[in-house]
Amino acid sequence: TDKYAVFGNPIKQSKSPVIHAAFAEQCEQDLQYRAVRVELDAFERSVKSFFDGGGCGLNVTVPFKQRAFELADKCSIRAQRAGAVNTLLLAEDGSLLGDNTDGVGLVRDMVANLGWSLQGQRILILGAGGAVRGVLEPLLREKPRSLTIVNRTADKARELATEFGELGAIDGGGYELLADREFDLVINATSASLQGEMPDLPGSLLTARSCCYDMVYGAEPTVFMRWAALNTAWAVADGLGMLVEQAAESFYLWRKVRPATGPVINQLRNSLA
Ligand code: ATR
Repeated sequence: TDKYAVFGNPIKQSKSPVIHAAFAEQCEQDLQYRAVRVELDAFERSVKSFFDGGGCGLNVTVPFKQRAFELADKCSIRAQRAGAVNTLLLAEDGSLLGDNTDGVGLVRDMVANLGWSLQGQRILILGAGGAVRGVLEPLLREKPRSLTIVNRTADKARELATEFGELGAIDGGGYELLADREFDLVINATSASLQGEMPDLPGSLLTARSCCYDMVYGAEPTVFMRWAALNTAWAVADGLGMLVEQAAESFYLWRKVRPATGPVINQLRNSLA
């Protein structure tokens, strides 16, 4: 049985073992996948001993994604852009490869599962933390008309816009940037969501055709999703599909098999209720 795991701290909340067990069963893959709480000072040596002990692949979650990026011998372009790694695997020559599947997970959920097109659209992202950095390159690959990042700390949004500027039309700043502007797609990536808070937004930034996506999820609609519905967004979704899609991409990197994600998203949705 091939061994996989996710390393994080905390880790109790992780759905990854359930997701990968479902993928393995569906694709008839003989593997085990465990969630491991790693002490803050033990990440690097835990990764090493996992692979030395015959482990086949790792997911890495908060707060270790940047350290996984530093640790990997070689990283994919998307992981380099993200400055963060959520998937580790061994190359043929035994070196440690780092990749980041978060952004592609977000894009696939929006495009393939929800049927939202990104091409030519005006995209707004709320927040400028690690979660945003991780998804910018795959989003810009979809060729939106524009991508605007707003953040409480405006400088962080401006810095991201500068750093990713060569990949597409991207601007950034504080929330005051939103006055008198409209967007086709609004993505909430602030951690405020987790505390049931959200930034103050003018309802005028949505049109009758706008889509709203919250990168977090829960048993109930988030505050941002309720705001979107109240302001008559065309479509509203949470981040459960992104979670399953990023896992599917990791599974593919490890096993070279692509699981069907729809049944697993439904299974998780039912288990939240
Ligand atoms: P993550 O990995 O989830 O991105 P992070 O790097 O800590 O976590 O980033 C959290 C993001 O949520 C930041 O953009 C943060 O804004 P600041 O850069 O100004 O701190 C944003 N955020 C957190 N709480 C917020 C709040 N109450 N209102 C608005 N934005 C908030």
